[in-house]
Amino acid sequence: MSELFLAGGTVLDATGSRRAHVRVVDGLVAETGEGIEAGSGARILDASGSIVCPGLVDLHTHLRQPGNEEAETVESGSRAGALGGYTALVAMPNTDPPIDSAAVVRQVLELGRFSLCEVAVAGTITVGRGGERLAPLGEMADLGVRIFTDDGAGVQDGRLMRRALEYALPLGVVLAQHCEDAALAAGSVMNEGEWSSRLGLPGQPAEAEELMVMRDIALARMTGGRLHFLHLSTTASVAMVRAAKAQGLAVTAEATPHHLALTESSLSGYDPNFKVNPPLRTERDRAAVRRGLADGVIDAIATDHAPHTQEAKEMPLDQAPPGMVGLETALAVAHTELCCGEGPVMAVADLMAALTWRPAAIAGLRARHGGPVEAGRVANLCVFDTTARWRVDPELMATRSRNTPFGGRELIGRIRHTIRAGEAVVIDGQAQR
Ligand code: DOR
Repeated sequence: MSELFLAGGTVLDATGSRRAHVRVVDGLVAETGEGIEAGSGARILDASGSIVCPGLVDLHTHLRQPGNEEAETVESGSRAGALGGYTALVAMPNTDPPIDSAAVVRQVLELGRFSLCEVAVAGTITVGRGGERLAPLGEMADLGVRIFTDDGAGVQDGRLMRRALEYALPLGVVLAQHCEDAALAAGSVMNEGEWSSRLGLPGQPAEAEELMVMRDIALARMTGGRLHFLHLSTTASVAMVRAAKAQGLAVTAEATPHHLALTESSLSGYDPNFKVNPPLRTERDRAAVRRGLADGVIDAIATDHAPHTQEAKEMPLDQAPPGMVGLETALAVAHTELCCGEGPVMAVADLMAALTWRPAAIAGLRARHGGPVEAGRVANLCVFDTTARWRVDPELMATRSRNTPFGGRELIGRIRHTIRAGEAVVIDGQAQR
């Protein structure tokens, strides 16, 4: 029998918050409460002054395996995830080869079998992410795939997207769209606007995202299909999703920590670490995304953890690939930005909803992830110190890549321990294997 005892924390889950110790036996939560005691031989982890909550669930992680193991592997990405408090990651399928068949799904699931986070896999919507033919969604769904996306690109062909939504419906799976009109976005390096003019850089208009959000809401209405919007970044996108939800359409949405924290002005130093897709937008857009998250129009915070080698990110801005790593900073960035400082926009409980139980539900992982923290549940947990201050040092990160836009930033809140299926994979901020 193996026992862990999380002592002296405040348990926080979708049912509320309470002072309680948590006893974990053989992978499951055995007991919670203020009056309980550790069994003999239990490993005791201090949780005093901290929140004990369900482990975080990331809907949007690029693990780069197979094909770009120099930037990340399933193993290194999961380690980064566990250090960031995640107990489950959804691996994006824009790998090489892409995850567009049962064979590649099996390969990635196998790679994740012993990793520090549970690795769920997203499959592509179209073969090779080519946007021309539907991938074998049913075959991949049979292996447990619940999310399909051509992320990195949107499905440009409306007719094909309609078919995909119709086909996905009886499978009970979610189509996740990277909303970007390829023609409007072609050649862009950053958001189109005052800053792109000032910096002399080709811009991507907000409309490149918004046109596809608009089209896909229409297709969701037409088909009754289940749609998830990846990394929303503009004011009008949030407004359209708000209206679609008010009409009862089956849509959900996510936002990234970087769109909540940063704006287009970050590109003023021409640093490729601030190049991302969709691009960092205006202050008004950032405020709209924050508001959308605070009032629940945006369901989840997802990292879009997109590791790139130093070599790739050292290229000139127009050639460097878009993307930022995020697993090790997401919770602290979101907590610092949204729950601390002058005018906090949301309570910690609402932040955790966006990082744990809501994404777990979207990914179909509620059986094991997202809580509640109660007897009989699989012990996927994290312990979060909301007051610890720390400075992001890219050199100390577990991800194989270094492309963070937050290097040098002071953040408030840090993961102390992460428990994956009853195993303490991170203790006092250190990975245990
Ligand atoms: O910035 C991005 N990087 N956006 C995406 O949609 C894809 C991602 C990547 O895979 O690098």
